[in-house]
Amino acid sequence: MFEALTRQPDDPLLALIGLFREDERLGKVDLGVGVYRDETGRTPIFRAVKAAEKRLLETQDTKAYVGPEGDLVFLDHLWSLVAGDTVDRSHVAGVQTPGGSGALRLAADLITRMGGRGIWLGLPSWPNHAPIFKAAGLNIATYDFFDIPSQSVMFDNLISALEGAALGDAVLLHASCHNPTGGVLTEAQWLEVATLVNERGLLPLVDLAYQGFGRGLEQDVAGLRHLLSAAPEVLVAVSCSKSFGLYRERTGAIFALTTSPQSADTVRSNLAGLARTIYSMPPDHGAAVVRTILADETLRRDWAEELESMRLRMTGIRQTLAEGLRSRWQSLGEIADQEGMFSMLPLTEAEVMRLRTEHGIYMPGSGRINIAGLKTAEVAGIVQKFTSL
Ligand SMILES: Cc1ncc(COP(=O)(O)O)c(C=O)c1O
Repeated sequence: MFEALTRQPDDPLLALIGLFREDERLGKVDLGVGVYRDETGRTPIFRAVKAAEKRLLETQDTKAYVGPEGDLVFLDHLWSLVAGDTVDRSHVAGVQTPGGSGALRLAADLITRMGGRGIWLGLPSWPNHAPIFKAAGLNIATYDFFDIPSQSVMFDNLISALEGAALGDAVLLHASCHNPTGGVLTEAQWLEVATLVNERGLLPLVDLAYQGFGRGLEQDVAGLRHLLSAAPEVLVAVSCSKSFGLYRERTGAIFALTTSPQSADTVRSNLAGLARTIYSMPPDHGAAVVRTILADETLRRDWAEELESMRLRMTGIRQTLAEGLRSRWQSLGEIADQEGMFSMLPLTEAEVMRLRTEHGIYMPGSGRINIAGLKTAEVAGIVQKFTSL
């Protein structure tokens, strides 16, 4: 019966990792990875994570089930980190999920269960967004969010999409550190989006996967907080993979801002019910680590400091890269003002291949680069190779 199946294409990014590994050249550079790397090329475990894990090892006295909603104290701390005191907490339902991907899938299933049929997605976006929403049965309406040659957010398109959306449509928004473009919405633009979402009765689903990687822990959620203040109902999918470096521990949460404590309770029960039918309960370890860090002043300060140093490393590389690349592509000066790990270069597939074969510089055909894949000392050499294209 398995013959009824057709072979699915391999994930192009995983294939790229394989090609990079096999390349024996000394100066090769991997700009395709989707994880943070430090100056030594490692994806480090945060000091605070190690300390929290030690504590958990010593104090944890059971592995009994936690429950489909996950760790309630973790959820409480994480919501504070995301939303502060922006909204009445009794109106918020939270459920812990396996990573941000799990949160997005539960959100999509919830929207389908509510009778929602469509979600608006700005392109380009994280390649997993569309498959996750489709798998939940949602129709996807797209609009162009970012113009790669000019490196600018096409804000008018976002506004037109929202104006054309039907009452009750869902709209995916990246909270900050847009993947894959690094494109930024200004505060004034967030306010405009918030007003429009409210006026048109749309349901924003905000993907928050890089808090602390852009302008700072508070700044990276400022737009989201405007939205939470303006709109009565909002879904927020949070990933702890990058901000806490917990990738493989699959740590995240889906939160729903609702209009009353009763509505929050109903939404929570639905999210928990949906989780039960997919994976039953989320893995505990990563959430226990985040809870331990956020609940302890010293660990929390140390985590925030380390995160800030990672952010500054990336903004430093962005500056140098932008200055160098501007001479060849004027618009790439914008890289300095973009946020997070990713930017998307205006390269043809042929140029991407030349960089790979001639110089050992690896990136996907789309031209998306991970800024954190670079070491500071490498940037000048990389700029030279790019500008020689
Ligand atoms: C935009 C975006 N959303 C969500 C995620 C989900 O991450 P995870 O499921 O690993 O927590 C990622 C990860 O790369 C991402 O880039």
